[in-house]
Amino acid sequence: KPKPKPKPPAFGVLSSGGARAPTKPAEKPKPKTTVVRAPTLGRPDISSASSGGIAGPAGNRNLMPAPPPEPEEPEIGQGHLRDILQEGSFEKYGVGGLDAEFMTIFRRVFASRMVAPDVVRRLGMRHVKGMLLYGPPGTGKTLVAKQLGKLLNAHPPKIVNGPEILQRFVGQSEENMRDLFAPAEKEFKGKGDKSKLHVIIFDEIDAIMKARGSGGAAASVVHDNVVNQLLTKLDGMQSLDNVLVVGITNRRDLLDPAVLRPGRLELQVEVGLPDERGRRQIFNIHTAAMRAGGMLAADVDVDALAATTGNYSGAEIKGLVGAAQSHALARYLAASGNENENENENEN
Ligand SMILES: Nc1ncnc2c1ncn2[C@@H]1O[C@H](COP(=O)(O)OP(=O)(O)OP(=O)(O)O)[C@@H](O)[C@H]1O
Ligand SMILES: [Mg+2]
Repeated sequence: KPKPKPKPPAFGVLSSGGARAPTKPAEKPKPKTTVVRAPTLGRPDISSASSGGIAGPAGNRNLMPAPPPEPEEPEIGQGHLRDILQEGSFEKYGVGGLDAEFMTIFRRVFASRMVAPDVVRRLGMRHVKGMLLYGPPGTGKTLVAKQLGKLLNAHPPKIVNGPEILQRFVGQSEENMRDLFAPAEKEFKGKGDKSKLHVIIFDEIDAIMKARGSGGAAASVVHDNVVNQLLTKLDGMQSLDNVLVVGITNRRDLLDPAVLRPGRLELQVEVGLPDERGRRQIFNIHTAAMRAGGMLAADVDVDALAATTGNYSGAEIKGLVGAAQSHALARYLAASGNENENENENEN
């Protein structure tokens, strides 16, 4: 006698049926601020960030699909920047819960770049050319740095990974440091004020900029040279109006104080864990593709999820969505598998 066919569950990702509510306790202890990463071999990732892809630095723990492509791409003019400033939200650029931080950055770094260079000169202003993003792991620091370049219609950012740059032979890291800044210098010489912005990102800058003399003996001589080279470059950029250096770290306390002086990475922005509103934005960002594709069950309550995920970082929220997706997919596959078996049984 044929078994009754099981009804396949609705393919609803995060639906109340199968999706587990976040399993972690709502009041998770604050994450530790130290992240120890295995050093990566090979050349540093000085490649340009590809469109929308969040191919994080070598240590990225999240093998999640990239967020949906940014709606706007090539030409982001100044009018556009004004819209952003008015709107004050960066959700559509794939960054949630950091609106206040973004606004600070825009005011300090970009306001002066939105008016005619001539006006800036007459005001006796100078642009902020270096900033530091710091805060706990997984909060979107690398993401912010990458998106900034796009919002500003800059050249694709160059991303240098701190630990990697130190793995060079003696002398080569200094040369690399010079190469990093060379295109900006060249363009500024040729085009002056017309030059596009060059964004240079030092991810995990604490690896390079540890307080000098803090290491032991021989290795630290090489290291100190690299630090000095970078400091020289940061000072040199004062004569370049087309450079923005972004340092990223989750150990600001380890940094050589010299790098944080005015004129170097003078604007320091803390990127912290998102609040409930921020978490809602981040959930919306990471479920946007499913929602658009009709794959998100109607009973998925983003507000409730945001309310119960206290102390989750953006990366953890992204991970949670990914886990729910795998569960839904597994249920779907199991159900369709059963169906086939039943059909075979019926034939016999
Ligand atoms: N505020 C956020 N909004 C949207 N997505 C986020 C946010 N924060 C993190 N994510 C997601 O988590 C991924 C990892 O975040 P990211 O690499 O930017 O963290 P980080 O702060 O640089 O961490 P670390 O200090 O460990 O390098 C991002 O690619 C993004 O998909
Ligand atoms: Mg990072």
